[in-house]
Parts: sequence; C-alpha cells; structure tokens
Amino acid sequence: MKDFFHSLPKVELHRHLEGSLRLETMLDIARAHQITVPINTTRLGQLVQVQNDEPFTYQNFLAKFATLRMFYRSPEVIHRVTREAVEDAARDNVRYLEMRFTPVALSRAERFPMDEVVEWVCESSQAAAREFGIIVRLIASVNRHEDPALAEQVAWLAADRARKCIVGLDLAGNEAEFDGRPFIGIFREARQAGLRLTVHAGEWAGAGSVREALVDLNAERIGHGVRVLESEAVVAIARERRTPFEVCVTSNYQTGVVPSLQSHPLMKMFDQGLNVTLDTDDPSISQITLSDEYRQASEGLGMGVEDLKRCILASAQASFLPDEERMNLVEKLEKELK
Ligand code: ADE
Ligand code: ZN
Repeated sequence: MKDFFHSLPKVELHRHLEGSLRLETMLDIARAHQITVPINTTRLGQLVQVQNDEPFTYQNFLAKFATLRMFYRSPEVIHRVTREAVEDAARDNVRYLEMRFTPVALSRAERFPMDEVVEWVCESSQAAAREFGIIVRLIASVNRHEDPALAEQVAWLAADRARKCIVGLDLAGNEAEFDGRPFIGIFREARQAGLRLTVHAGEWAGAGSVREALVDLNAERIGHGVRVLESEAVVAIARERRTPFEVCVTSNYQTGVVPSLQSHPLMKMFDQGLNVTLDTDDPSISQITLSDEYRQASEGLGMGVEDLKRCILASAQASFLPDEERMNLVEKLEKELK
C-alpha cells in the first residue's frame, strides 16, 4: 500500500546487498544453477528469510547469509541482484542509497577474483542508479569473523575507488564473539586512503564495543549501536561527536537485541540527544522496506512526523557523499519535506 511513509523521500545508510535479494530471483538462480535448495517460495523463504516460528538469534540471522553465499554463481547473477536491489530502493522512494556489499561473500562460491566482483557491483549499481533515478554509493563490508587478510584486500580494492562509487568501509559480522582489534590498522589506513568508516557495534555486544568502534577504529558512524545506552560514558562520547547511529528496528528484534518491537530503545536514544537515523539492514531477510521502518518508528514507537523528517535529514547529513553533493542532497530534501 502506498501511503504517507512511502511518500516520504527517504535516505538509506545501512542496507546490505546480500540481505536484499528477491525471493523470486533466488528461485530463478536456484533453478538455473541447479542449486540444491528447496525450489518453492515457502521452503526457500524458510532458509533465507527470518520466520516467525524460529529463534530470533544472531546465529540464526547470520546463518541466512551463509546459505545465500551459494547463490552468487555468475557475473550475471551479481549484476541482476545489484540492479534489483537498487530498483527496490527506488520503488520505495529512497532518493539516496548507501548500499554495503561484502566482496568476500560474493566471490566465494565461484572463487571470482575480488577485484572483478568489486567492479561488477560498481558498474551495475551505477547503471541501475541512472535507470531508476536514484543516487547510489557503495560501502565495502568486511566481517569480524573472517580473516583480516581478506579485509585488507577488500580495503585496498575499495580505496582504489574511494570518492567515486565506493565511499566507505564497514565492519560487520559476529560481534558477540569477535572484537575489532585485528582491524584497527586496516581501518586507519582505509581512512587515510579516503574511505569513510562505519562499524557494526553495540548490537550483539555491549557499550564497550561501541567505545572500541569510536575510539580504536575511529568509526564515523555506528551500525545499530543501540546497546550504547548501557554506558553513560559512551553515550557522552557519541553525543559529543554527533556520531550518527544507523538504527534498524526490525533487524534488532529479529536478532534478539530487543525482546519485542515495542520495547526498542529508539526513542530513548533520541531523547538522550543521540544522532539517530532509520535504516533496514537486510530488507529481504527481514521482509521489510524502509517505509515499513518509518511506519514502525511512528506507529509502534511514537515518533512524531517532524522527528521522522528530522531523521531523514539527519541521514542525508550523515551520508558519506563528498561535502558539496551531501549539501545538495540535504537542501533538496529540506525543500521536499517542508
Ligand atoms: N551482516 C548483515 N547484517 C548484519 C547485522 N545486522 N549485524 C552484523 N553483520 C551483519
Ligand atoms: Zn548490518
């Protein structure tokens, strides 16, 4: 249903390409490449999307990505899923999409050279952006639970395209069991090479992880970060720096960060003066759109319309676009949201 939340011109800062595949497309790929997964939508959905009757844990959530790695079988597949992810964002009235992708995941099944994978996603995303009338930039993502040597390769490939289609580097993955220390040097060098930095933290680990992201990794934005509220001292650091938090309400519920959608501390973060943005994380795995997340913030958590609009502008302000392009985006949205 196209409604008020759809009609808002939106900005998405935290969306994983690998969590954005259409189920129908996955079925096509499974058939074409004889992937041994159940070939009907319900059964495949159980493997790659969060179901209401399964445990809402990060282990279960991360397992979906492991299954999805079987799908990246050809350059055409990677082109198609990238294009469709951009199309889906544009159809949801997202005007600026900062989409993250995981070169290690995309290259793994067929051992594609990572530089080629990065090039394919850059080309497809920019072609789709022109086709669907949306601005798209990319963030290269690396996982905490994978070899830092791979992360280093990804960082260099991304840095080659810094300030062009790739604007940032992200640390994702299993935060509960892996800290960020092995990545400190890589993140320092990436920043020096012109990449902007965002780190998943305070999601499956506590406020100490947010402190590590801010202080040791020099993260300019925090993915999720909701557990920052466990420490006043870390809240104070983030508030002072005006660090944007990429808050993904439904994802937090589905990975067990919060026990219910209604108990999500989004409004607490807001009231503490933190710089919050609303994002989806993995729209296909969670079966949501960004409009749904704005609806949830409004109808489920009580965020007023003016604050919803402020969130959109805060997102635009927090984007990793170069200053002039960023200010143009903010101005354009300010006019539309008046
Ligand atoms: N990769 C994809 N979604 C993620 C999340 N919510 N946390 C950490 N890594 C992820
Ligand atoms: Zn994420």
